Amino acid sequence: MKVERKKIYDPLLRLSHFGIAFFCLILILSAYIAEFYYEEGLLRKSFWVVHVYSGFALTFFLILRIFWGLIGPKYARWHEMWKWQEWKGAFKARRIHFKWNWGHHPMASLSYLLFYFILSFLSVTGIILSAIEHNLGPLASSFYDQLTYRKDLSELHESLSYFVILFIFSHLFALFWHENKDQIPIVQSMFSGFQYRKNNEVKNEDEKYEDEKYEDEK
Ligand code: HEM
Ligand code: HEM
Repeated sequence: MKVERKKIYDPLLRLSHFGIAFFCLILILSAYIAEFYYEEGLLRKSFWVVHVYSGFALTFFLILRIFWGLIGPKYARWHEMWKWQEWKGAFKARRIHFKWNWGHHPMASLSYLLFYFILSFLSVTGIILSAIEHNLGPLASSFYDQLTYRKDLSELHESLSYFVILFIFSHLFALFWHENKDQIPIVQSMFSGFQYRKNNEVKNEDEKYEDEKYEDEK
């Protein structure tokens, strides 16, 4: 069986992946370390300041990724990530085995969309909390010490943060598990930009065209 490779992930997509992954890890560490040092005022404060500034950096990379999904090259675009043709195909065939074109696996793609959605809420709640708790960020002058929202926002923020931790474990597990099972280099693709696929798994452009034609005829 032949293995094909193609340049799929462009440099800006890879940069935003690195930024988002790196700052998610710093955010998780800084929040849990700050909570651990609940008795040490200054040390705790320092970790929250690290958390807040890493939060701003994460928000920057998230906005970059969102814009890139609108104006970037083919495989960075949002419409490439819905994969609704593939999901429809799987529902029709009543099996979870997908045939998809280049880019993310449809299931992985769905989890990335959900992850970005949750990150957006974390950024918004985080920016408001930064203003309320630390008088920092773009909303500092309007929200400082607004204790009415504090409890609800921080509960929402904390609950969403568990999803991020769950996502990271399942993302890394899925990458390494597939690499091992399918015997193709998957993990490296966000570094090199190259995706490798076994040629019998790739849904080729003609098949895609056939699906679309079928849709038009209906
Ligand atoms: C630790 C935090 C991490 C987070 C939050 C994260 C998040 C993400 C997200 C959101 C995507 C989708 C990219 C897109 O917008 O198209 C993605 C894809 C990917 N990530 Fe990560 N990532 C993390 C760590 C890593 C690490 C450590 C590696 C490799 C060593 C890695 C390798 C990949 C690869 C290869 C893909 C593409 C896989 C596919 O085609 O489905 N990620 N990651
Ligand atoms: C991966 C994303 C993030 C994770 C996992 C995360 C995690 C957490 C956790 C667990 C808490 C403690 C909640 C509590 O006990 O009330 C927290 C609080 C907080 N987070 Fe985040 N956060 C993330 C993103 C952000 C962002 C983008 C910002 C905005 C800049 C931000 C700003 C804050 C602030 C200001 C607090 C309250 C600090 C305090 O109580 O003094 N976070 N975060």
